[in-house]
Amino acid sequence: MAETLYIPENASRKEVYDSIIPQVEGLLSGETDQTANLANFAAALREAFGFFWVGFYLKKENQLVLGPFQGPIACTRINFDKGVCGHCYRTKETVIVPNVEEFPGHIACSSASKSEIVVPVFDKNGNVSMVLDVDSDKLDDFSEVDKEGLEALVRILEKTFIA
Ligand code: SME
Repeated sequence: MAETLYIPENASRKEVYDSIIPQVEGLLSGETDQTANLANFAAALREAFGFFWVGFYLKKENQLVLGPFQGPIACTRINFDKGVCGHCYRTKETVIVPNVEEFPGHIACSSASKSEIVVPVFDKNGNVSMVLDVDSDKLDDFSEVDKEGLEALVRILEKTFIA
């Protein structure tokens, strides 16, 4: 397993996604432990893009509970009817929030977070088992490029799930 992530310099965000997708595939493919893979996945995204916060909220019984992440400390439990994460869990679709202050019910773990994208992660039965949450300290920092790149990365992660 390559333990160094190569990140192209002066590259567009699309080029960085294109570069890290096969590297993340290599990083995760040799490991079956879910916590290890979620932790490295979050670290790779933070290293590649310098996002303010990158991490997972895992479905546990009737809530989303904080999982492996990179960034400042965060709220630990989110109800399905709350926040951008809850919205993503319910709709099973990626949510892009250009300005978190304009999203009804947004949960502010940090006042420095300005925009956000949340991607659903599916188990083998097609149920949302967790969500990937990426926060930026810049307004309007996420686009279709991020949606496509993050969804491609999440599909790689899902392939490592045993059940
Ligand atoms: N803002 C998220 C909560 C998680 S933190 O951003 C890390 C939400 O509204 O669901």
